Amino acid sequence: TWPFYAAALFGYLLGSIPFGLVLTKLAGLGDIRKVGSGNIGATNVLRTGSRKLAAATLLLDGAKGAVALLIAGIWGPDMAVLAAAGAMLGHCFPIWLKFNGGKGVATALGILIAIAWPVGLLACATWLAVAALFRYSSLAALAALALAPLYAWYLADPQRMQLALFIAFLVWLRHRSNIVRLLRGQESRINLGKKG
Ligand code: G3P
Repeated sequence: TWPFYAAALFGYLLGSIPFGLVLTKLAGLGDIRKVGSGNIGATNVLRTGSRKLAAATLLLDGAKGAVALLIAGIWGPDMAVLAAAGAMLGHCFPIWLKFNGGKGVATALGILIAIAWPVGLLACATWLAVAALFRYSSLAALAALALAPLYAWYLADPQRMQLALFIAFLVWLRHRSNIVRLLRGQESRINLGKKG
């Protein structure tokens, strides 16, 4: 069983790199956890006013999920799924940040693209459509992840559909405070107005 633990641990360590925190610190923007929602993800990095750093956070947090799945996939489909699940757990509960990590949206989208690109494409399209309509990043993520297992059910194998269910569960779990804010009408909207 050690290869299974190794795959999960590899994914976890990769997933636990908090790119949003690292990039904003390197850019001299201080601690992202003291900005906006306090989250370390791309949406909150955007609240610093830097679209470039937000895009880089989105890409790197997404890439770590996809890379974990694809590299571990060399050793078989079980390894791929375990490493991807590990990457989600690493992003959401990184040991470096006392297990207080991100909400997993970018990492989930990266994993979904690696599960099967049409699944990832549909999930990204859902995110974009809901974000364009309502301008809430969290609502877009909740909708995209609610539908992702359904997309995977049609377009991927049962094992990868289960992985999609697991990452959807984690993303919803990490959005509890956003769900409360959405219900109260207090959620902050995406603002692409600032340059940088
Ligand atoms: O990527 C997480 C997003 O769905 C919500 O982020 O910072 O608005 O809580 P935030």
